[in-house]
Amino acid sequence: MEIRAVAWRDDALWLLDQSALPVQVSWVVCRSPQEVEEAIRSLKVRGAPAIGIAGAYGVALAARHLPDTLPLEEYLERLHVQGERLARARPTAVNLRWAVERTLRVARAHRRVQEVREAVLAEAHRILQEDVEANRRIGALGADLLPHGCWVLTHCNTGALATGGWGTALGVIRTAWAQGKLRGVYATETRPLLQGARLTTWELHQEGIPVTLVVDGAVGALLRQGKVDAVVVGADRIAANGDVANKIGTYPLAVLAHRHGIPFYVCAPTSTLDWATPSGEAIVIEERSPLEVVRVGWGWGREGQGLPIAPAGVPAWNPAFDITPADLVTAIITEVGVARFPYAHTLPRRCGSGESADAR
Ligand code: MRU
Repeated sequence: MEIRAVAWRDDALWLLDQSALPVQVSWVVCRSPQEVEEAIRSLKVRGAPAIGIAGAYGVALAARHLPDTLPLEEYLERLHVQGERLARARPTAVNLRWAVERTLRVARAHRRVQEVREAVLAEAHRILQEDVEANRRIGALGADLLPHGCWVLTHCNTGALATGGWGTALGVIRTAWAQGKLRGVYATETRPLLQGARLTTWELHQEGIPVTLVVDGAVGALLRQGKVDAVVVGADRIAANGDVANKIGTYPLAVLAHRHGIPFYVCAPTSTLDWATPSGEAIVIEERSPLEVVRVGWGWGREGQGLPIAPAGVPAWNPAFDITPADLVTAIITEVGVARFPYAHTLPRRCGSGESADAR
């Protein structure tokens, strides 16, 4: 079964609700840009490419709902304001702004409201389709780097749920499995929202790919015992120098991989490359509610209120992402090529031909 988490049906955006998985497989139907924005904020749709695609459809919904009686300039101005709201729903993943701005550019190229509506929706479909194609290519390029009979470790969820389909790091895993190269996968649970435990194991289970779940703190012992041949992760934003923003807990994985001489691969479409950001220091890291840390299950599951695991009133720090310095990254795998350190030189040459976040 091919998993698709983002789909356009009956003039609405359908999202496979990732806050309910794996307990419940249910869909959220968004009929307005406000509903899309809320779904992005509450992680019903999540993962950098998937929120980009959702953002593009959010612009398409805004274009449908704005009255066609408005003068074109005012119509486009209001569309821009709604697009900006969507782009700000989550700040770290550059794919969101990239996709919203790409659809707004298309809107501005038309002179009649009906044409704008059709063109923006067509662009959202294109962004979705291109993402699936990019993932297939990333899968093939990444699987080539893995040895036969390997065990890989992955973090968070970078699969079909997090993208238009197939996945980035999980796409590499899927491809390696299809090629008979892969023995199995270790998935970190990925505190605090447990995307690894809830989503990655769910996806791999659907396809019969062997997966063993480990707590985040077990990774050092796992690597030390020689049980992992490669670490493969995704990215929310890659700066021009190759610094990588990804799910909190990625940086310690890279340090541990370096310590144990294990390759650390970052897999992402070129829409995740941010040429306008020189290094990781300039990347805005989203901070989320402390409730996600002091309660297990806050924001997801049936009730969404979670179970307290700390005394009331204990403060918590909850950055959603961290920065992995470029020199800890063995290779960056995109749909147009594979780059290796020093990335300031190799990224533009190997991965620079796709449309990227600074093309606006
Ligand atoms: O907070 P999330 O679940 O949206 O974070 C997702 C990640 O960090 C992924 O690794 C990244 O977006 C790449 S998904 C292909």
